[in-house]
Amino acid sequence: MKLGVLARMLDLRPRGLRGLASVDDFERAANRKLPRIVSDFVSGGSDCETTVQKNLSAFDQIEWAPRYLSDVSDRSVSTEVFGEPLKLPVMLSPAGLASLVHRDGELAAAKAAERAGTVFVVSTASSFSLEAISAVTTGRLWLQVYLWKSREVVGDLVKRAKAANYEALVLTVDVPVVGKRVRDIRNGMAIPPRIRPSSVLNVLRRPRWLAHLLAGPDLTFGSLVGAVDPEGQESIAAYVDRELSNAAATWEELTWLRGIWKGPLLVKGIVAAEDAKEALRRGADGIIVSNHGGRQLDSCPASINALPRVVEAVGDRIEVFMDGGVRRGSDVLKAKALGARAVFVGRPWFWALAAGGQDGVERMLGIFSEEIDRTLALVGSPNFHTVSDSNIWGHEGTVPE
Ligand SMILES: Cc1cc2nc3c(=O)[nH]c(=O)nc-3n(C[C@H](O)[C@H](O)[C@H](O)COP(=O)(O)O)c2cc1C
Repeated sequence: MKLGVLARMLDLRPRGLRGLASVDDFERAANRKLPRIVSDFVSGGSDCETTVQKNLSAFDQIEWAPRYLSDVSDRSVSTEVFGEPLKLPVMLSPAGLASLVHRDGELAAAKAAERAGTVFVVSTASSFSLEAISAVTTGRLWLQVYLWKSREVVGDLVKRAKAANYEALVLTVDVPVVGKRVRDIRNGMAIPPRIRPSSVLNVLRRPRWLAHLLAGPDLTFGSLVGAVDPEGQESIAAYVDRELSNAAATWEELTWLRGIWKGPLLVKGIVAAEDAKEALRRGADGIIVSNHGGRQLDSCPASINALPRVVEAVGDRIEVFMDGGVRRGSDVLKAKALGARAVFVGRPWFWALAAGGQDGVERMLGIFSEEIDRTLALVGSPNFHTVSDSNIWGHEGTVPE
């Protein structure tokens, strides 16, 4: 009898990705698979990584004011972005060189985003070309660009994005120069990664990662082949400084870009409300409040803390989004409560990709969906749409009597 109970209790099947229950689990799973030099590149930030930490801890400072007994049996996590439905209000931030963590790189991420009904923002620095990525999906793709020193290169990317049916353009403005990524300097992070004597053992302990990297296509910037290529063994920071960033850029560049791109145009990397107003004046359709995940200027405010001022300044005329530190469904809803139309995640999709390729990213997005749904019920607001600052503890007139 007792043995029968024990037999029913035992479940020794490998759990695989199903055993991962949160974004934090994905981070741990990724770090078990990746050599230190790569996991540091993904997780690290600039200088003292103060902003990386602030992005996370600021969410914890925000508390809910839950309301009960209001029938939350019929719930919806979906929304609309630029007039098109979005099944999940969590989009994938642009992040370059995804093939570093999984050989299917951005192809896997694009397919996973399509399955989840969300947007994938392809980085200018993607490992596959923007055309190769659009060829594997009918989902919503946006392209992120930097302001290069040469308008010709940006203009060419814009034409290619249009031809490949990209829906929106995202201009990243927070990289006049690359932030000081201390971990990358110490580790010798380059394209391809430089394996120094100090990291040989660590890399050899990740033979599957090494085998994948060696078996996969050459690690490069797929959309930029022919335009500019990294000069063998160059540090990523040096390459971006030399080619992708433009310290001389001014708001005139946004006006120029507006002139050549007719679809939705977003500006990413805004922290100050005055910059959001300027972007609006120059014809932007959307703002992504972001500090580049704490990878650029350190000691920036957490994105979630910068969001309300931007929303107050331009939120009634332009779609406002945020990224930085979003790790739970509850974080997504806090951002919505403070005025974001939807959010983006960067590191979480890299960790999920490293942990399980396309399946990993799908599972991670599924976890977000489930967490958002559950939090909606617990907060007492059945729809993503109906979440507002009145759900946040301590906001004026919102403390329950
Ligand atoms: C590995 C990595 C590469 C990134 N590459 C880019 C990029 O090419 N262009 C860009 O605009 N932002 C890039 N970012 C920043 C992300 O778009 C995003 O702003 C940031 O990751 C959000 O913070 P989170 O990682 O806490 O979600 C990158 C971030 C990471 C982690």
